[in-house]
Amino acid sequence: MLYDKKIAILGVGKLGEALVSGLVRRADVERTNLIGSVARQASLARVDLRLGIPVTTDNAAAVAGRDIVILAVKPQNMTAVLESIAPAVSASQLFISVAASVSTSFIEERLPVPAAVIRAMPNTPALLNEGMSVLCAGRRATPEHQRLAEEIFSAVGRTAFLEEKLMDAVTGLSGSGPAYIYVVLEALSEAGVKLGIPRDISTLLAAQTMLGAAKLALETGQHPALLRDSVTTPAGCTVDGLLELEEGKLRVTLIKAVVRAAERARELVNS
Ligand SMILES: NC(=O)c1ccc[n+]([C@@H]2O[C@H](COP(=O)([O-])OP(=O)(O)OC[C@H]3O[C@@H](n4cnc5c(N)ncnc54)[C@H](OP(=O)(O)O)[C@@H]3O)[C@@H](O)[C@H]2O)c1
Repeated sequence: MLYDKKIAILGVGKLGEALVSGLVRRADVERTNLIGSVARQASLARVDLRLGIPVTTDNAAAVAGRDIVILAVKPQNMTAVLESIAPAVSASQLFISVAASVSTSFIEERLPVPAAVIRAMPNTPALLNEGMSVLCAGRRATPEHQRLAEEIFSAVGRTAFLEEKLMDAVTGLSGSGPAYIYVVLEALSEAGVKLGIPRDISTLLAAQTMLGAAKLALETGQHPALLRDSVTTPAGCTVDGLLELEEGKLRVTLIKAVVRAAERARELVNS
């Protein structure tokens, strides 16, 4: 169980903060079982004030004696952080990384002990506990390690496990996805404004419609095409709108956007 685990969060930035909040509020983890680390002295007061957990700039001290170590620093800081914790790590610890494009083997190779590693790709709605986190297990991660990781990310939204070779695709879809959705949201809101709806109400209509439509898909489990058909009366107005979307190639454009972003994620790993 997670509640009695001692957890270090290395890098209490936007995502680290969301994870700490989720663990305390939704997974019943005591603040005293958590410790954070940051790069700058100036960040210590922010973490203390906002989260009320112990926080340090000494990564090795944060890691010593912990059961789980969450690596929530930027990918470009990962090597330095792994070097800084080397004297304090032990093979019984579970390491969980959220850094985009950093593989489990990259971390395994830089740990001085044969510890378990899990990689996660959350997305920005995790900041509001509505995230989508995809997890993959490194070669030493057991089902119990996976269950613990799942419990952590369930505190900030939904979770799924996939093979690591699909993590670039995940980055292109759910990682980058919120950005595509905001483009669609902005366009729908703009359409309402064009038709005379006040901008704030127009954005509300568009955003709640997207939220409600997504919830219907998640909760009914129905295929999106079936849900679309249920809105589309023969010879009604929706079918005319759908024809415009087909002519504007919305579907193929979104597919190409996800594929391109996934390709870019792969390039970043290999660069
Ligand atoms: N934001 C998201 O929604 C999201 C989604 C998916 C994946 N991720 C991944 O999550 C990671 C963090 O992203 P973020 O958006 O939370 O970034 P962020 O807000 O910039 O936070 C990074 C944190 O790392 C700390 N840090 C930097 N170097 C450090 C070091 N050597 N030792 C200890 N702490 C150090 C920084 O400390 P200071 O505060 O002192 O600068 C900061 O608190 C990235 O790898 C990113 O790919 C983020």
